[in-house]
This record gives sequence, C-alpha cells and structure tokens, in this order.
Amino acid sequence: MKLTIFAATGGIGRQILEQAVGAGHDVTAVVRNPQKLPGELSRQVRVVTADLAAPNLALLKSAVEGASGVLSGLGPRSNSEAGIATQGTRVIAAAMQAVGARRIVVVSAAPIGTVPSPGQPNPLKHDPGDGFLMRHLGAPLTKAALRKHYADLAEMEDVLRDSDLDWTAVRPPRLTDKPLTGTYRTAHGRNLRRGLFISRADVAHYMLRALEQPETIRLTIGIAN
Ligand SMILES: NC(=O)c1ccc[n+]([C@@H]2O[C@H](COP(=O)([O-])OP(=O)(O)OC[C@H]3O[C@@H](n4cnc5c(N)ncnc54)[C@H](OP(=O)(O)O)[C@@H]3O)[C@@H](O)[C@H]2O)c1
Repeated sequence: MKLTIFAATGGIGRQILEQAVGAGHDVTAVVRNPQKLPGELSRQVRVVTADLAAPNLALLKSAVEGASGVLSGLGPRSNSEAGIATQGTRVIAAAMQAVGARRIVVVSAAPIGTVPSPGQPNPLKHDPGDGFLMRHLGAPLTKAALRKHYADLAEMEDVLRDSDLDWTAVRPPRLTDKPLTGTYRTAHGRNLRRGLFISRADVAHYMLRALEQPETIRLTIGIAN
C-alpha cells in the first residue's frame, strides 16, 4: 500500500514506520524533526518535514496525495503542547479532503469516550467496557491528571466525526515499550474489561491492520493486551 505516516518519530509513530517498511509498503513519513529518524530507515521512505503547529497545506497535500492509508501517531509531548492533536488532525483532514485521500487511522486514548468536547458536550458517564474500579478510580484519576491532553484528543475525534473521511480512532490504555506480540484484544466503540496496558508496537500493528478493516470505519476502537 501507499501509506503516509504522521509523527513517525514518536513512540507509536516509529513503530508504525518500522512495521510498514518491514511489510514492504511504499511509505511517506511526515515528521517535524527528520534528524530523529535513523539513517537506515529514512533512506527507505520519502521524508517530509512539517511542524503541524505551523502547517503548510500545500506541503501536506503533496504528502497525502495518492495515499491509500494515512496513519497518525500525533499527540502532545507535554501539557504545554496540548491542542496539537486537534490542530494537526484538522489540517491533515483538510489536506486529505483536498486531494481525495479518504482512509485515516489515528491514536486517541481509552478515557476519551467520557470526555466532553465541543462536538459531544454530554458524553457517556462511564465507558461501557470499563469495570467498577476503572469507572470509579482509574478513569477519574487519569482524567484529572491529563485534563488538557484528553480535551485535545476528544476535540481531535470531533474533527474526524465532522469530516467525511473514512476514519478510525484507536483508544489505547497505558502504553508500554514492550515488544510486538500481535496478540491483543479490540472492541468496537468501547474499552476492554481489565485492559490496563498495551504496547506501542501492538497499537501500531493494529493501526496497520485496521486500514484493511472497512468495518472499523467511522468508529472508535478499544484495544488492550
Ligand atoms: N502515554 C500513554 O500511556 C498514552 C495512553 C493512551 C493514549 N496516548 C496517546 O497516544 C499518543 C501517542 O503516544 P506516543 O507514546 O507515541 O507519543 P509520543 O512519543 O509523545 O509521540 C507524539 C508524536 O507527536 C509528534 N508531534 C507533537 N507535536 C507535533 C507538531 N507540532 N508537529 C509535528 N509532530 C508533532 C511528536 O513529534 P517529535 O517526535 O518531533 O516530538 C511525536 O512524533 C499520545 O500523544 C497520547 O495522546 C498515550
């Protein structure tokens, strides 16, 4: 497939990049700092340098033109960068719509189904997949600690819902750097019971798989080990 990978230097993004190259896909990697890509990998892909906080629509259009799939590992590296997932995804969506690219898979987070956003001001109180402890302890604590970050991801999902793209938003719980297993659980539109962790490598693996699963289009997907 011809794939465009945004934030290919991040934890999940780098995993998507390595797995996509390993599978023989034709890859364009969009990164804000190309120096962070190892030489060997960067020689095997087309690299486009773009800071999504100061986007150049023409450049992004050229990066997604002809892509059969767009994957994004974009997210704020710190609280002060919160807002970038929404801003970046908005411009990625605009670029895709301008050139007729349709399929996009992005990373969101497990608690987002219960986070209010301008598009969903009254979300569910509890995610239907969460058990008692997650509902009453885990989710409230992480939501308090990561309020700005989660507001950004919730609004990013609004951007996708408001578009006519074929989007999928993957909602992982706590990420780890454990190796790829290819063995994990997923659920459409809800979290996984006792699903507390997933490796970045497995999230990347699923995001690549989801590209070829039309049943995941316009859905959020819970994932956990
Ligand atoms: N940590 C968790 O346990 C957890 C759990 C659930 C969901 N999530 C979500 O999953 C996302 C991905 O996780 P991760 O570990 O892969 O995150 P990460 O390593 O922090 O990667 C974030 C990526 O976004 C890129 N980025 C940020 N601002 C940008 C900008 N202005 N222009 C272009 N690129 C920009 C970063 O680029 P640089 O490489 O140049 O910095 C990096 O590639 C997180 O951001 C979070 O929203 C995280």
